[in-house]
Amino acid sequence: MLLSPSLLSSDYGHLADELKALEKADLKWVHWDVMDGQFVPNITLGAPIIKCLRKESNLFFDVHLMVDRPERFLVDFAEAGADLICVHAEAGNHLNRTIQEIKKLGKQAGVALNPHTPLNVLDYILPELDLVLIMSVNPGFGGQKFIPYTYAKVRELKERINKLNLKTLIQIDGGVDLTNAKALVEAGADVLVSGSAFFNFPPYGERVKAFYKAIE
Ligand code: DX5
Ligand code: ZN
Repeated sequence: MLLSPSLLSSDYGHLADELKALEKADLKWVHWDVMDGQFVPNITLGAPIIKCLRKESNLFFDVHLMVDRPERFLVDFAEAGADLICVHAEAGNHLNRTIQEIKKLGKQAGVALNPHTPLNVLDYILPELDLVLIMSVNPGFGGQKFIPYTYAKVRELKERINKLNLKTLIQIDGGVDLTNAKALVEAGADVLVSGSAFFNFPPYGERVKAFYKAIE
């Protein structure tokens, strides 16, 4: 299991320090939540900020775009230093083209699904994906309550991935904490995103250990 802390719950005033602290805590991934105030009712940050922070960190930048028509910004985020670009299936009209463009830019490609979006939107595109992000809250804010039907969705997606013999990672985002981490990994999750249940409980090194202990 990989833990990808969501910076949405970090101290935006000290992002460089936060990134350094995550690296020190032996983490490999960090999750950037990009919100445009259109696709979701909140605004966070964009490519220029990620670009500045790229110089400060060797972490794998896992970039979750909660923006309408994300195809407009792929080059910006690739040039800013994203390692993986994840777009919402609900946010654009040409998912196939968007995925091809992310790959052409030399980045890993992910697709995120809102809680209500069925898995079958992935039917033809799954073999192309490095990662599928299953939203376990409605995107827009940290600290929301985990939606329990996520478990069934993750199990079903894992079955489909196994059946096709793919290496696609399953990422869960929203309301992940020490109480549901184990069940999510058992259902098939590979990457857990955690915002409030991670950043509200420093020191980070200890929190990382607590997450790994919770899934034992
Ligand atoms: C929600 C974001 C999540 C969020 C997770 O729109 O995509 O990454 O920050 O935060 P918690 O873990 O607090 O639900
Ligand atoms: Zn996210």
